[in-house]
Amino acid sequence: MRISLRVNGEAHEADVWEGESLLYVLRERLGYPGSKNACEQGECGSCSVMLDGDLVCACLVLAAQADGHDLVTVEGLAEDGRLHRVQEAFVAAGAVQCGFCTPGLVVAAADLLQRTADPSDDEIREALSGNLCRCTGYAKIFDAVRMAAQ
Ligand code: FES
Ligand code: FES
Repeated sequence: MRISLRVNGEAHEADVWEGESLLYVLRERLGYPGSKNACEQGECGSCSVMLDGDLVCACLVLAAQADGHDLVTVEGLAEDGRLHRVQEAFVAAGAVQCGFCTPGLVVAAADLLQRTADPSDDEIREALSGNLCRCTGYAKIFDAVRMAAQ
């Protein structure tokens, strides 16, 4: 089937198999490899994207379900060649190690700060609870989100 969707403000069309995930189509058909495939089961959050303004795991959404919808991926967060403040804060705080979880955490944190300008630690914890990191121990990630909020 053929689907049409907008990714980071750009219109795309793609021929997809009915069972293909949105994550697969973003990465393999449309050239947006920023969202990572770590579990493909909705457990790790590495594939987090915004679908019509809602945070979703792209591995759990069928590409067909995104037909006619708007997506923002981690590639779409920077503006005018400048990193998003969450991306800058992750770099400044040293919140990146292997980096595999980072795109999903950045998208989830940007979503949080859009909804809640000055989140409490519990709000940060809840917002990032769907994003697993195998490397950092999370302390630097929390520092980065607090830094971005300031
Ligand atoms: S790859 Fe989608 S949640 Fe892990
Ligand atoms: S930095 Fe390696 S999984 Fe998070």
